Amino acid sequence: MATRVYIVYYSMYGHVEKLAEEINKGASSVEGVEAKLWQVPETLSDEVLSKMGAPPKSDVPIITPNELAEADGILFGFPTRFGMMCAQFKAFLDATGGLWRAQQLAGKPAGIFYSTGSQGGGQETTPLTAITQLAHHGMIFVPVGYTFGAGMFEMENVKGGSPYGAGTYAGDGSRFPTELELEQAFHQGKYFANIVKKFKGSS
Ligand SMILES: Cc1cc2nc3c(=O)[nH]c(=O)nc-3n(C[C@H](O)[C@H](O)[C@H](O)COP(=O)(O)O)c2cc1C
Repeated sequence: MATRVYIVYYSMYGHVEKLAEEINKGASSVEGVEAKLWQVPETLSDEVLSKMGAPPKSDVPIITPNELAEADGILFGFPTRFGMMCAQFKAFLDATGGLWRAQQLAGKPAGIFYSTGSQGGGQETTPLTAITQLAHHGMIFVPVGYTFGAGMFEMENVKGGSPYGAGTYAGDGSRFPTELELEQAFHQGKYFANIVKKFKGSS
């Protein structure tokens, strides 16, 4: 049976979604791995979203909490809000109490990816503060570390992402993931999928 990697994200303006698509390609490039993209439910009204200038959502399916249990490994992606994951993603995780009670996600590998508006706006605090969610579920946090290699030491151009996971800077909203950021996203998907596959093979 194939190793299932779920890529579960929230994206208001498309930056996290762009990373998710690239992560999906990276994970799908691993033989025997079936990767799947999912969005978490929106919590804001259409009126508020329109005032915030959010474009319509893509047609990536919306996940329900229990569907998380089907995955062998899960990558979670979200934009930052005041240095932490957005409320939409937190609301989704707050609905996973049933899974938590039965520890159905325990022992599953998990990774994180994210977008911030600015440098210093949460590239490290956003993934770091999200680790509490994984800990309570007993999930195994898989950072990318420095396995991306030279791209981790880019100094000439602005680059999002960190040892915690792939990342991008949205700036005022007009900046979209650069080639290098997309390469790190692809790398994270592939790296993570290989680890999930190994885990599944040894259990
Ligand atoms: C209420 C609110 C709070 C935000 N807080 C931060 C922040 O603390 N740091 C930061 O760099 N960007 C912040 N941003 C910018 C978002 O992180 C940015 O819009 C997001 O990364 C874009 O990703 P998306 O296109 O996937 O939604 C904030 C945006 C909103 C709407």
